Amino acid sequence: MGRILSGIQPTGAPHLGNYLGALRQWAAMQDEDDCFYAIVDLHALINVPDPDELRTATRNVAMVVLAAGVDPDRCTLFLQSHVPAHTEMGWVMECGVSFGELSRMTQFKAKAEAREFVSAGLFTYPALQAADILLYQADRVPVGDDQRQHLELARDAAVRFNSRYGPLLTVPQATLPKAGARVMDLQDPTSKMSKSAISPQGTIDLLDSPDELARKVKRAVTDTEGVVRYDPAAKPGVSNLLDLLSAATGEAPEALADRYAQYGPLKADVAEALNELLRPFRKRLAELQGEPSAVTAALALGRQKAAAVADATLERVRDAIGLLPR
Ligand code: TYM
Repeated sequence: MGRILSGIQPTGAPHLGNYLGALRQWAAMQDEDDCFYAIVDLHALINVPDPDELRTATRNVAMVVLAAGVDPDRCTLFLQSHVPAHTEMGWVMECGVSFGELSRMTQFKAKAEAREFVSAGLFTYPALQAADILLYQADRVPVGDDQRQHLELARDAAVRFNSRYGPLLTVPQATLPKAGARVMDLQDPTSKMSKSAISPQGTIDLLDSPDELARKVKRAVTDTEGVVRYDPAAKPGVSNLLDLLSAATGEAPEALADRYAQYGPLKADVAEALNELLRPFRKRLAELQGEPSAVTAALALGRQKAAAVADATLERVRDAIGLLPR
């Protein structure tokens, strides 16, 4: 049995990229592995969210994660800020990674350019992410493609820690899904689908109705060639649609392309397949919306289980680096 850790930010509404890149894997792994899933509310602070919006987003994301099939009796689902070891280990990691390493993070560079107030937290964010992972001695981290570089940093941080202080931390590995690791924006298919997209039409929110989803897929940007072919560089829009169909059906995008002569029928099948894929998710979500106490109970249980593991690692880390016992 391996140890798994992953996280999702409570920033805005979760989207199809989060589902295909991460949440679907989270649910699939929980029977074979010992899984810890964090809703990383401390990470969300880098966006300086409105307090009420943060509270609402945190509850909604917890509900979405549960609706995606994550079962609090078979894994550990918790809020990052409920386990104080994360902040303490975050500081240890900040002192263990270099300014140069953090400066090379492409997500930092992209996000810093796009905003006026660039918090120090935006810069040190990957160190806190490394702390999240290393506290649980995770072997594998199920994430989408955009987290690859952050995972490399977490690995480097673990290797460096172990060479300085002895072999204490597990060196983690990223696990990407076969299909859906990089879902692109439907209106701008050269950018990844994200919560901060310019046009909401390009992002499929997991809370969208089946009709809304179908409308967004129908309006997805393609090209004027009129030929269905899988070629992400030359035909990013059509290839994204084929990737989505592949993620929903399990078939290779190249093989799927052979079945279509026109974009219209492809889009219709993509919408239908995605709505079918999301059917159980939507059913569970509707049930959970009627019982908010299930979310509170799941997080309370998760907090205890997570703290027991994180605190034990932190005590060993404190001792190894020379902090006196409390
Ligand atoms: P976040 O909240 O941006 O995204 C959560 C998960 O969704 C994946 N994802 C995507 N996958 C495919 N296509 C997309 N368009 C897409 N957009 C997002 C992400 O790769 C991620 O797996 N830094 C992390 C949160 C985090 C974390 C961690 C993750 C904090 N600590 C420890 C793993 C381990 C983030 O902002 O994810």
